[in-house]
Amino acid sequence: MGFRGSHILSITQFERAEIEHIFSVADRMEPYAHRQRASKVLDGAILGNMFFEPSTRTRVSFGCAFNLLGGEVRETTGIKNSAIAKGESLYDTARVLSGYSDAIVMRHPESGSVAEFAAASRVPVINGGDGANEHPTQALLDLYTIKKELLSHDRTVDGLRIAMIGDLKYGRTVHSLCKLLSLYDNIKLVLISPKELQMPAEVVENLREAGHEVVVSDQLEENIQHLDIVYSTRIQEERFSSPEEADLYRGRFRLNQTIYTKYCEPNTVIMHPLPRDSRVAANELDNDLNENPNLAIFRQTDNGVLVRMALFALVLDVVDLVDKYSHDVRWYAGGRF
Ligand code: NCD
Repeated sequence: MGFRGSHILSITQFERAEIEHIFSVADRMEPYAHRQRASKVLDGAILGNMFFEPSTRTRVSFGCAFNLLGGEVRETTGIKNSAIAKGESLYDTARVLSGYSDAIVMRHPESGSVAEFAAASRVPVINGGDGANEHPTQALLDLYTIKKELLSHDRTVDGLRIAMIGDLKYGRTVHSLCKLLSLYDNIKLVLISPKELQMPAEVVENLREAGHEVVVSDQLEENIQHLDIVYSTRIQEERFSSPEEADLYRGRFRLNQTIYTKYCEPNTVIMHPLPRDSRVAANELDNDLNENPNLAIFRQTDNGVLVRMALFALVLDVVDLVDKYSHDVRWYAGGRF
């Protein structure tokens, strides 16, 4: 695919070389994300950031990424605050909003909704999560993080050994990540979930067809040994018919420092798309892991800005102009990165 003017709707639209290209552009965004330089390359451009489901990091990091390239962000959050609540169609909303914006990011509770919106949009649309279907930019930032973490242990994505834990039925991040990993070679995936919340069969089939080893289990401890990555997820309670139904699965798989020390290899990297559910009944990733140097969850969130900057630079075709329209930062910006 060419990036210029393209929608980013599903991870399946990319080939491996394109993924590597996104990552090399993301690397070039580091001085800007780390506040060593500021760029004005998108000066005058407007992002329509439309989130019709709860979001903290996806919404804010997309907004920051656009701001860090010099653009402005206009936000619409919550269906009840938009004319969709008055019965307006996605088609009409897309025709209208794409007249006001140069790019649009959209999150919506229905699978396929972002693609439907994009079909009517006059500007590039990026999928910020459509129901239980996909979350392609999360998969990109997850893989970007995995690559960086593995590099520091002299390993590559080819040959990766990863466990995905939790709600694999409704978790869109793991759906997209599995599809993305199928582009690589010789992966071992251990899919740990309650039987009722297993990874969709077609995702597993695609992985097996691509030659990867897939183990499906409902047991945690015995399956998190000899891995590079454990990727924990939250029970997606908003997809269940009632909170009581979600209660049946909450807290079923908990990773804490004691379990990690007992079962995981010393350098196993711990990931989670966040938010982790830190309520006592859930607590899938315990706070006692916070000082564990292999906990990569906040490196994931930082990397999300780099990857999202790269995507904007690519679809708006300014990659080679980012440095030209840049200057030193004037404020104290040290300490964070
Ligand atoms: C995820 C999502 O919204 O799919 N969050 C995120 O974007 N990082 C995961 C979740 O909500 O559990």
